[in-house]
Amino acid sequence: MIRMDSAARTENNNEPCHVLTMDDWNTASIHSLLEKAQRFAENPDKLPLQRLYAANLFFEPSTRTKISFEAAERNLGLDLLHFEADTSSVKKGESLYDTVKTLESIGADVVVIRHGRERFFDELRGSVQIPIINGGDGCGHHPTQSFLDLLTIRQEFGSFQNIKVVIAGDIFHSRVARSNLDVLERLGADVYVSGPKEWMNEELMQRYLPMDEAVETADVMMMLRIQHERHTVKMVAGPDKYHELYGLNEEKAARMKPDSIIMHPAPVNRNVELADALVESHKSRIFKQMKNGVFVRMAVLSHVLEQQKGGLQQ
Ligand code: CP
Repeated sequence: MIRMDSAARTENNNEPCHVLTMDDWNTASIHSLLEKAQRFAENPDKLPLQRLYAANLFFEPSTRTKISFEAAERNLGLDLLHFEADTSSVKKGESLYDTVKTLESIGADVVVIRHGRERFFDELRGSVQIPIINGGDGCGHHPTQSFLDLLTIRQEFGSFQNIKVVIAGDIFHSRVARSNLDVLERLGADVYVSGPKEWMNEELMQRYLPMDEAVETADVMMMLRIQHERHTVKMVAGPDKYHELYGLNEEKAARMKPDSIIMHPAPVNRNVELADALVESHKSRIFKQMKNGVFVRMAVLSHVLEQQKGGLQQ
C-alpha cells in the first residue's frame, strides 16, 4: 500500500550504512550515488574489492534484482556466500533475524535482502553490524530499482527538473511506485499517476491523470506490472479489458511526444500493461534500465562498503 511517509532522513552515525528506503537519501546524496553509478557505466572495468563477502538473501522470486546484484558483486571482486531460502535452515523454522546474524557471524560484509514482509529491516536495524541493502520488501520499498530508474531518466534528459513522469498501473501494490513518487518529486520532476481508480487513494487521486491525457503529455511513461500475488480481491477487469482501458498499446504510444520514453521495472505482462510490440520499441528503455541496474548496484555496494570499511579504492 502506498503511504507517502517521509520516514526519518536523519543520520544515525552508530549504524552501518544501510540502503532501506529512498526516504533516507537527501538530494545531494542521491546525485552523488548517481555520479558513482555513471562512472561505472562509463568505465565498466572490474574493480577489486577482494576478501569481502556478500550474501544475497532472496525470500521472494527475482530475476533482475538478484542476478544484477550478483553481477555487480562479481564486477567489484566481492566473494559471494551462496544462500537459497528453499534449501536453508529457514525451512526448519529459522527466523530472518537468526539467518542474518548467522551470515554476519560467518563473515558476510554486506547482505542484500528481498522479503515479502513490509519493513522486514526494522527487526534487524540496531542489532546487525553489517550493511543491509533492501532488494524489495513486500509492497514497501525497492530503493535500488528507484536508483536505476533515476539513472535511466537522468541519462535520457540530463536532469529531473520539470520532467513529467506518469507512473501508471498497479500503484497501490507497487514498491517501485512508492520508492519513486516522492524521490522524483524531490529531484524536481512533475509526477502523476494513472490507472484503475480502485488502486488509488485520496492522496494519489490528487495527481491522477486519465490515460489519454497521460500519454500525450508525459516525458516518461513508467508502466507497472499488475501485482496479482499481492491482491486480496480479484481484479475486476480481465487482461484484455485492462489493456484497452489502462494499458499502453500501439495506438496510444503513437500519440506520445517525440522524445518521450517508456519505462517498466519488469517483468512485463506483455499485452496487459504494455503491448508486446512496445517492449522492444525505439521508445522503450526497459533493457537500458536492466543494464543500469548493474551499475547502480555496483555504486550502492561500493558506497556502503566504503562507509563500513573506509577507504576502498574507486
Ligand atoms: N524489477 C524487479 O525487481 O525485477 P525482479 O523481481 O526480477 O528482481
